[in-house]
Amino acid sequence: MIGVFDSGLGGLTVLRELTARFRHADFVYLADHAHVPYGNRPSEQIVALTRAATEDLFERGAKLVLLGCNTATAVSLRRLQREWLPKSRWADGAHNVLGIVAPTVEAATQTPWAVTSPQYPQKYNTDTVAVFGTTRTVTSGVYPEEIRKRCPKVTVVQQICSELAGAIEASRPEAELEALVREGVAGVMSQTANMPPHRAILGCTHFPLVEHLFRRHLPPFTRILSQPEVVADSFEDYLTRRPQYLAGNEGGRLSLLTTGDADEVSALAGVFWPGVKSFTEA
Ligand code: DGL
Repeated sequence: MIGVFDSGLGGLTVLRELTARFRHADFVYLADHAHVPYGNRPSEQIVALTRAATEDLFERGAKLVLLGCNTATAVSLRRLQREWLPKSRWADGAHNVLGIVAPTVEAATQTPWAVTSPQYPQKYNTDTVAVFGTTRTVTSGVYPEEIRKRCPKVTVVQQICSELAGAIEASRPEAELEALVREGVAGVMSQTANMPPHRAILGCTHFPLVEHLFRRHLPPFTRILSQPEVVADSFEDYLTRRPQYLAGNEGGRLSLLTTGDADEVSALAGVFWPGVKSFTEA
């Protein structure tokens, strides 16, 4: 069984792609609605909440946990992988935790994650990449740092959209969401002197839920990188090399859990993912 975690509904954008791709895998999704949004929280809190969620998913039988959340990945993944997991009771080589920043950087730079120095032709790439994210994702600096290692001439423009994930979770009216997106795009354009970026990374898994609004306000020239798709591509590659994570899966079992109110969360999830099954309380 594969665990997928997010602070709220955003990770469903990734889960949806994964369930469509891996019909024989069993998934358990955990949304921490008791603490959503994570994006403006202190880093230590995000690490503690992400660790607790990962433990919960391991306890439920997941062997592999994917943090379907940029904030949790940017702030916590290295610490969980390097400091917590090796000392935890799941340090048996059979459990692992992964994030979604690496596949996104790989796709944005067309460079494998393992390659950390500039190669031809990426070495001479002079594109501009816009990254929209939560406060903590942007201040972690992980996207510019990892992109520039592989493409040193690429300009990375970051924009904090501090209210957007919370507004999506609160099911705010479309006009309000659109105003937040418009403001975020204007923030990017003011940093590029109105030159359209070549690519945009919606670096928060909630944001694909309003991708149509980003599309409306970004210049037509700007390509939006589909994070759910590139994460699923990379996950597919990972599971091909490590089929043990699919061993014992019964095929197509999906459970959706929330630390919040299951009825409220199910109603909202159905708006974004019509026909998705109901959440139960974790
Ligand atoms: N969906 C999450 C992300 O990808 C977190 C949003 C939040 O809880 O602030 O960053």
